[in-house]
Amino acid sequence: MPVGDRSVMQRALGKEHYVDAGAFTVERERVLGREWFCVGRADALGLDRPGRLAVVSVLGESVLVVRTADGGLAGHYNVCRHRGSQLVPVQPDAAAPAPCDAKAIRCPYHSWTYALDGRLMRAPHTDEVADFDPVDFSLHPVGVEEWAGFVFAHLTPGRASRLADELADVAARTRRYPLTDLVVGSRLDYTVRANWKLVCENYNECYHCAGVHPELCRLVPAFARGGRDLAWEDGIPHRAGAWTFTLDGTSTRAPFRDLDDAERTRHKGELVYPNLMLSLSAEHVAAFVLQPLAHDLTRVECSLLFAADETAKPSFDPSDAAAFWDLVNRQDWVICESVQRGMSSRAYEGGWYAPMEDESLDIRRWLLPRLEANR
Ligand code: FES
Ligand SMILES: [Fe+2]
Repeated sequence: MPVGDRSVMQRALGKEHYVDAGAFTVERERVLGREWFCVGRADALGLDRPGRLAVVSVLGESVLVVRTADGGLAGHYNVCRHRGSQLVPVQPDAAAPAPCDAKAIRCPYHSWTYALDGRLMRAPHTDEVADFDPVDFSLHPVGVEEWAGFVFAHLTPGRASRLADELADVAARTRRYPLTDLVVGSRLDYTVRANWKLVCENYNECYHCAGVHPELCRLVPAFARGGRDLAWEDGIPHRAGAWTFTLDGTSTRAPFRDLDDAERTRHKGELVYPNLMLSLSAEHVAAFVLQPLAHDLTRVECSLLFAADETAKPSFDPSDAAAFWDLVNRQDWVICESVQRGMSSRAYEGGWYAPMEDESLDIRRWLLPRLEANR
């Protein structure tokens, strides 16, 4: 994330994109529902072998994700083709049902039963219905693909591009990190009373670091200067003697084996729009999955990923990384919520990006053409 060289203030994305419930609905339908959307790690979703079924929430839609017999993933709306019952009942505001083994998906209402790939296999007492062809009653599909151990869903799969194509640049930049093989060693969940885009913008700049993150700036002194001197593609250096994002900047865990010399001592970051943020240290990766719930409400799931041989050790203790991330995260959410409240004031007419916030412009570049194209 190199800092740009422009010297003028740029207008921020308009106020309505943050504080207007109607604008959020439009954004969800025209943009977010037509993008690949990260739903979490395959291992954390329990999708580690054929015959596993997980229920996930994608932009307010309940979605079934299954690992099929061929080892691939398939996704279906959690809606029966008969009369619309949820196939796996999910109470509003309740936690998702735990992942489970499944040979088939049977509706609890009248027992229409579907194969894991979505085909209708059985509809009781329909054998003599003349014009009833089960082929016409497969579950409504949701696109599901996997990248580097992350599961992505697409609510309008007929319009989806190949996920691998979209992520080619990120994959190239992170190729020496063993993302596919990492496992969740610690999980930090937050409900942030702010628009999801504020979380992205905040992730994309370090203009705020000096005022908001004193501990982080002690670990990465250049952050105190707004990160102006840093080339993210090369990785950001820590203070002398520190090499990872933990409370003391070190760890007893080994660096990932294939990193180059710079990556063993530096930190990298990626933002995969719209809802995955990766923060890559030499021995762990913090993966943030954003769930936009409303114009002013975002769920943030922060998974700390480690090498499996580290988590398997009886002495494995991720608290040094978890404590550091929880500290920094909460500092970020407090300020994002403050921005959300300030933006909601009648006095706020729109903001500005200083030159140091060049990468924050990405949200404007990303969102506006998509809103326009999908009118
Ligand atoms: S609604 Fe599912 S079988 Fe009737
Ligand atoms: Fe921050």
